[in-house]
Amino acid sequence: MQFEFATAGRILFGPGSRERIREIARAAGERVFLITGRSGPDYAAVAAGLQEAGHDLRRQSVSGEPDIPIIGEALEAARLHNPQLVVAIGGGSVMDLGKVVAALLTNTGELTEYLEVVGEGRPITERPVQFCAVPTTAGTGAEVTRNAVIGVPEQRVKVSMRSPLLLPSYAVVDPELSAFCPPFVTATAGLDACTQLIESYVGAKANPLTDGICREGLVRVGRSLRTAYHDPSDTAAREDMALAALMSGLGLANAKLGAVHGLAGPLGGLVSAPHGALCARMLAPVTRVNLAALRARASESEALMKYRQAAQLLTGRSEAQPDDLVNWVAEIVEEFSIPTLGALGLTDALIPEAVEKGLRASSMQGNPVQLKQEELAEVLQQAL
Ligand SMILES: [Fe+2]
Repeated sequence: MQFEFATAGRILFGPGSRERIREIARAAGERVFLITGRSGPDYAAVAAGLQEAGHDLRRQSVSGEPDIPIIGEALEAARLHNPQLVVAIGGGSVMDLGKVVAALLTNTGELTEYLEVVGEGRPITERPVQFCAVPTTAGTGAEVTRNAVIGVPEQRVKVSMRSPLLLPSYAVVDPELSAFCPPFVTATAGLDACTQLIESYVGAKANPLTDGICREGLVRVGRSLRTAYHDPSDTAAREDMALAALMSGLGLANAKLGAVHGLAGPLGGLVSAPHGALCARMLAPVTRVNLAALRARASESEALMKYRQAAQLLTGRSEAQPDDLVNWVAEIVEEFSIPTLGALGLTDALIPEAVEKGLRASSMQGNPVQLKQEELAEVLQQAL
C-alpha cells in the first residue's frame, strides 16, 4: 500500500476559534489582506478585532465564484497592499480566491499560465504568502484542499489551479460562523460535503487514513444535516456539520472524488448553478448507476461493501443496504427542495457536451467503476 496525506499547516477547530485569527495575524506581521463574501456579520467582528489590534487591514469583497477578472482585481489590490498574511472568510469560492491570491503574490507571471486545460499548467514553485482559510458554510472543505476552482467565462469552463503549496497555512473552523447561513446554503453545502465523503470513501484512491476520516464524517452528516437545516440555532448540529465538511475536504484532498464531481465540474461551466445543488441532485442517480455497473461488471469490488457501510453510517441502521443510501439521499434532496438540473438550466441539448467533458474530468478517475458514456447520460437524464 502506498499513499500520501497532506493538509493545512494547522487546523484550529471549535466554537469561538475565529478569535484566534488575531493571534495568527500577530505572528505574521502588520499588513493583512482580508477577502470576504458579500457584507455579512460573519467577518465584521474579525475585521474589527484585527483593526483594534493595530493591523493595517485591506478588505476585498467578492460575490460569486472566482473567475479570471475577479482574481485579477483582487490580485491587483493585494499587490498594492503587499500583505504578510491573507485571510479569506467565506464559502469555497472565497477561500479558493484566497489561495490563488496568496500564491500569486510570490509566484510571478500571469494567472492563466498556472491553469490546467486552458493555460500551460505552470507549477507553483514559490511558497505563497501565509494564508488563513476560514469557512462559513459547512460544505466544501476548501480550507484543507490543495486546489482552487476558477471560472473561465469566455470558454464556459471551470478549471483548477493545483499544487500542494496551495494548502492553507491555517484552517480556522468555527462552527458558530455557519449559523448565519440561509437554509438553502446549509442544505446545498451540507450535501456537497456528504457527496465528497461518499465519493472519497468508495472511490478507487481511498486509503486507510481517509477511510477513517470519511466514516466519522458520514456519521455526523447522518445525525445532524436535517437538524442543521430545520433548526439553524442547534449548535451541536452546526458543530457536527462544520466537522463533517472539514473531514470531506481531508478526504477529497487525499483520495479522489468520483462521477458526481466529474460531472459537476463541467456542468458548473455550462449552467450557472451552485456547485452543492448540482452535486446534491446527481448523488442518488450516480449511486444508482454505480451500483448497477459494479454488480454487472465488478461484483467482487470492495466498493459494494463500502457503499453498504456508507448506507449504515448515514442512516444509522445496521441492517442498511447500498440501495438504502440511494433512498436516503433522494428523500433528503426532496425534503430540502433542491431544484432539479432542468430547473438549474440544464437542457437535453447540453447533455452530450457535459458527458464528454465529464469523461475527461480528473475527478472521474476516482469513481469506483469506469462508467460508459450512456451511463453518464442516464445520470443526467435522471437528475433533469
Ligand atoms: Fe464538492
